[in-house]
Order: sequence, then structure tokens, then C-alpha cells
Amino acid sequence: MIRIGLIGCGGMGQSHRAAFQKLQGRALFTAAVDPDLPRAQATADLMGCNTVAADYRQILDHIDAAILAVPHHLHHPIGIDLLRRGKHLLMEKPLANSEIECLDLIETAERANRTLMVAYCMRFHPVVVEMERLLKARTYGDLFQLSIWTEQHTQAEPGSWMHRKETLGGGQLFSHGCHYIDILLAWMGQPVSGTHIGTNFGTPWMEGEGTSNVSLKFANGALGYHFGTWGAKGTRLKYSFHAHCTEGMLEGQISQGRLLLHQGALEAEKGGEQLLFEAPVGKHLENELIHFVDCLEHDRRPLTDGRRSLQSLRVIWKLYEAETQGVVADLRAIGNG
Ligand SMILES: NC(=O)c1ccc[n+]([C@@H]2O[C@H](COP(=O)([O-])OP(=O)(O)OC[C@H]3O[C@@H](n4cnc5c(N)ncnc54)[C@H](O)[C@@H]3O)[C@@H](O)[C@H]2O)c1
Repeated sequence: MIRIGLIGCGGMGQSHRAAFQKLQGRALFTAAVDPDLPRAQATADLMGCNTVAADYRQILDHIDAAILAVPHHLHHPIGIDLLRRGKHLLMEKPLANSEIECLDLIETAERANRTLMVAYCMRFHPVVVEMERLLKARTYGDLFQLSIWTEQHTQAEPGSWMHRKETLGGGQLFSHGCHYIDILLAWMGQPVSGTHIGTNFGTPWMEGEGTSNVSLKFANGALGYHFGTWGAKGTRLKYSFHAHCTEGMLEGQISQGRLLLHQGALEAEKGGEQLLFEAPVGKHLENELIHFVDCLEHDRRPLTDGRRSLQSLRVIWKLYEAETQGVVADLRAIGNG
């Protein structure tokens, strides 16, 4: 059975730990690492595992693969070392803070024949998976506008790596919006142009933007949009996807685990909404982990591997660059993975 270690036992590390407990024996949790040793110890205790360390280099004999949930500026140095030492990697998003670092990780994984999967967990959420299935089957016609809202209140503690652009790698778009740029590309294909406008008004603790608005145009003429904020002091939409198709609108209420169809609602006496699909409320991180284990067991390419996930970061870097220059970004040279 595959032995997996958790490197980074902070906020997201704990979510991975909880997801692991739902794996039902598909893999072994064999080590917990964090420079905050009591944190690593508490994680190991919850998982009933004996290998605990402050430094990942001390657990190498105990793992075949690692979940890397550390600050963004550490993704590349730790990830490279693990791949070179023959470990498979489920890397938290975003893959790394620069194109050079991303390519280094991707090429090192390919040379070493190791799996490098990026933890774009939203791709594996049951409501998102069902929405994708209906959109790809063109069940309600052709998708011409996909709008995504993610409204959160995130306030990193003083001194956190999330404050600085250098360690976070950018702002809210890079850190969180990357999930949705990844989905927009996966569902809508080749992007051709786009804009980003961000601000840290509302999240003054951040150097980069804490509120972000992205608009993209795709080769077939369809449009995509993401609004994300870490400054929300209240929200109604929470995490919501609206997919306007030529025959109806699909509404993914991700936070509520519901997928609705809206048809004919513009005429008061006709149409309405229909519940198409329901899933238990939650992030369903275990689905991402199961996909990772499946890929290792059957030597398959992950849905969110390094090369595919780099496309979403390339879009983000182009959008940031165009924002600085005050122009619309030309995205035609970027593929969709
Ligand atoms: N997919 C999601 O929904 C989601 C949500 C939040 C965070 N994340 C991602 O998870 C990663 C971690 O974010 P977080 O919110 O858990 O941050 P965090 O600050 O809460 O936790 C990071 C942990 O890494 C530890 N760490 C620092 N240096 C280390 C090292 N050299 N070796 C091992 N551990 C080390 C820290 O002590 C801390 O416990 C980031 O990539 C972030 O983008 C993903």
C-alpha cells in the first residue's frame, strides 16, 4: 500500500489529514512534518502514526509520496528535493511562484517518472463534477458565460507568509483564484483575451490584492468571470457558479452542495428552478486524494497535473502584467493544457 506523508500541518494540512481519514484504507498515513513540532505531533497522534519530524528530510525512508501543504515560496525547493529523491507529490496549489520554478518541478517529475499532481480540489467537488458533466454533454445547449463568485473572510495572523507578495506569490487571484482560472480553462478551452482588476482596499493587511475581478474571452466567443474576495464580512452567494447556456442556466451552489437548473424564469408565469443534484455540504477533499492514489496505483496522468495546472498560472501572470500596463491581456499563446 502507498505510504503518504503530510508535510505542513497548518490550516490546509489539517484539511488533508481529515480527508485522509475518509480514505478507508486506500493508502497509509506514515509521517507528519512541521517545524512547529507539537503541531506535527498532534497531527500524527490523530492519525495514529509514529513518524514525526520538524524536517521532511528525516521521513524519506517512511514515504512513497507526500502531500505538500506549506507556504507558497517553499513549494519549489521542497518539491524539487522530494521528486529528486523519488517521491510522488500531491502539491498544494499554486504549483510554484514563478514559471521557471513550475517548469523545473514538471520536468524533474517527468525525468524521474514520478507523479506530480496539483491540489486543485474544486475540480473534484461533486457539484462541480456534475456541472462539468452536464456542460460537456451540452445538455442545456452551449455555454456562453460562466460566472464564479467566491466570497470569504480570510485574515492571516500578523507576520504570516500570506502578507507578502514575495512569499504568497501574488494576491488573492494567484493564491485562490487559480482554482477558478483552472476550471474556466478546463471547461471553456482556449482563452484569447482577458483583464484583471484587483485591490487591497478591504484587506489592507495584504501587500497583493485581496479582492480580484477577472474577465476572460475564449476562442469560441464564450466569456468567463471570477470575482473573489478575502474581505467579505458577510455573503449570500458564498461559493457560486452560474453557467449560462443557450437553453438554460445551471447554478452551482457549491457551499450548499446543490446544483439547480433555471429555465424560463424571465417570464413570471412560466418556468422556474429545478434541483438537479445534491451532495453533502463540505469540501470533499477526499475525492482529490482518491484521484491521486488512483493515478499512483494505475500509473495515470492526473487531471490536474503540473503541465495542465501551469496553464492557469500563465493566464494569471499575463493578467497581472496587463493590469500593470493598463491593457487587455493577449492570451492566445496560452493553451488549455
Ligand atoms: N485548496 C484549498 O482550499 C486551500 C485552502 C487553504 C490553503 N491552501 C494551500 O495550502 C498550502 C498551505 O496553506 P495553509 O493555509 O495551510 O498555511 P498555514 O500557514 O496555515 O500552514 C503552513 C504550515 O506549513 C508549515 N511549514 C513552514 N515551513 C515548513 C517546512 N519547511 N516544512 C514543513 N512544514 C513547514 C508551517 O509551520 C505551517 O504549519 C498553501 O499552498 C495554500 O495555498 C489550499
